[in-house]
Amino acid sequence: MPTLFDSVSLGGLTLKNRIVLPPLTRSRSAQPGDIPNAMMVDYYRQRASAGLMITEGTQIEPRGQGYAWTPGIYSPAQIAGWRAVTDAVHEQGGVIFCQLWHVGRVSHTSLQPGQQPPVAPSALPATAVKVFIETGPQAGALVAPSTPRALATAEVKALVQLYRTAAVNAKAAGFDGVELHCANGYLINQFISEHTNQRTDEYGGSLANRLRFLREVTEAVIEVFGGARVGVRFSPLFETTDEERVYLGLVEQDPHHTYTQAAALLEALGVGYLSIAEADWDNSPDLPPPFRAALREVFSRPILYAGRYTQAKAEAVLASGYGDLFGFGRTFIANPDLPHRFRHGLPLNPVDPATLYGGGEHGYIDYPASPT
Ligand SMILES: Cc1cc2nc3c(=O)[nH]c(=O)nc-3n(C[C@H](O)[C@H](O)[C@H](O)COP(=O)(O)O)c2cc1C
Repeated sequence: MPTLFDSVSLGGLTLKNRIVLPPLTRSRSAQPGDIPNAMMVDYYRQRASAGLMITEGTQIEPRGQGYAWTPGIYSPAQIAGWRAVTDAVHEQGGVIFCQLWHVGRVSHTSLQPGQQPPVAPSALPATAVKVFIETGPQAGALVAPSTPRALATAEVKALVQLYRTAAVNAKAAGFDGVELHCANGYLINQFISEHTNQRTDEYGGSLANRLRFLREVTEAVIEVFGGARVGVRFSPLFETTDEERVYLGLVEQDPHHTYTQAAALLEALGVGYLSIAEADWDNSPDLPPPFRAALREVFSRPILYAGRYTQAKAEAVLASGYGDLFGFGRTFIANPDLPHRFRHGLPLNPVDPATLYGGGEHGYIDYPASPT
């Protein structure tokens, strides 16, 4: 029976443990240009004892940005900034994947090139989410996303190529692999969910059509990294009374069917790991055990779970055989030496919610390692 501290192999890499730094947006990139900076190098270096690290969501192009100060991976300066991060992580023996992010409709004209509307599968606004903006009369405010413009079919195909280019850039920046952000109501999720995709071309309608963008993007990045170095993240949500979650596009009509089909598709493409972001707010619903079992049946490579995990919960899911890797989000933010603390049963620093997004070193690189 493996423990959290046993190694596991992923795409020809040996992960030294099963404790993962999941993707965590911290909105601290250098401006202008959304460039990874020295502070970010320190932040990732401090957490390199994770078996696997996944970067914060990183926009693949300017239109892919939905919040102020998130880093990109489309300019030479961004690639150079990320190279410093990956070098630091590799010096510590860490493994790091880049999370490729496009927010689709979850953005505001003030964040978009030329102040244009954001792009999405359909011209349906995200009504129940707020985005943080940095310029214009409302600078510094959380505002409703702008109504998006529906992408033309040719533009959808062009976006697939932008993902490929982002993967090429991630490789140039020294990443060990990439993770596709297909979760939390962002662009790829907007194609998958019937709430957000009302297209009548080959990217809308049937489930196979709604999964087509996912498939083409996955194939494109696999051409760059090989399947085993590509991960895919979903956030299937099963029941909620919270309408906001529905309108974010997170609750599909039949999440069990949708995501087991998606996982089977990724298995066939040779994807290296599947990441499941579980609901992580207070009183959020648990993932149904039959869904975990079904994923395990269709997907043969590592499955990563995150969402309010404790060490005990991770050990229980590992023992059940349904999960292989476990992400600890807020806990890893507050405890840069988390694997050491877990291994020795050391107390955990609490996270400071006020310093999660934006700001400087405080609440970012000044959480102390354990003195023992
Ligand atoms: C500050 C913060 C930023 C996040 N940013 C991202 C992100 O960029 N991409 C993503 O897929 N998930 C993101 N998430 C979700 C986390 O990866 C993770 O699933 C979530 O924090 C649940 O884990 P936890 O309960 O251990 O914190 C974020 C969560 C937090 C708290």
